[in-house]
Amino acid sequence: MKNRSMMQDIEKVLVSEEAIKRRVCELAQVIEADYDGKETLVVGILNGAVAFYVDLIKEMDSFIEMNFMRVSSYGGGTNTTGNIRILYDLEVSVADKHVLIVEDIIDSGVTMKNLKKLLLDRGAASVKACVLLDKPSRRIVDVDAEYVGFKIPDEFVVGYGLDYAGKYRNLKFIGTLKPEVYTH
Ligand code: IMP
Ligand code: MG
Repeated sequence: MKNRSMMQDIEKVLVSEEAIKRRVCELAQVIEADYDGKETLVVGILNGAVAFYVDLIKEMDSFIEMNFMRVSSYGGGTNTTGNIRILYDLEVSVADKHVLIVEDIIDSGVTMKNLKKLLLDRGAASVKACVLLDKPSRRIVDVDAEYVGFKIPDEFVVGYGLDYAGKYRNLKFIGTLKPEVYTH
């Protein structure tokens, strides 16, 4: 093994590479059937959704349009609904298109709630969300994803797009970190 491997920091694997692959294929089939014949814009949310996005669209055989956004959420305080700041915006119009947001995880729900509203306000014909992971117990706003890869408990996870301090996004699985990683 190399001197420094990401694996040394992993406490446990929560969702294996094989389980992710299987689920991504299932999701792609369901989405394809649901969007059959519709002009679909698949919006990936940078950076976390990149791994999931790429694998998902490659399992689809429909004519889709790809585009990306980067947002940061700032909620908190007394305003529990929070808000989002757009750091990088779409390059195309969503007007009259069926939009599928692809995101790594839905946690408090603040990001997804605001994203859905924003794209509907811009005139999308429909807006749905596909997330790899869902932490339902963490929700502080009323929003859900129409397509969910895995529901997980309230644990901080990394891998397959998800990061801790900018790292671990390139792991092939979803896992948790050893407690000492956080104290370094
Ligand atoms: P929400 O607005 O609270 O739903 O936040 C969603 C964002 O929080 C995701 O796009 C992730 O960037 C981040 N996030 C939430 N939970 C985790 C986690 O367990 N690991 C890594 N990032 C997370
Ligand atoms: Mg994210």
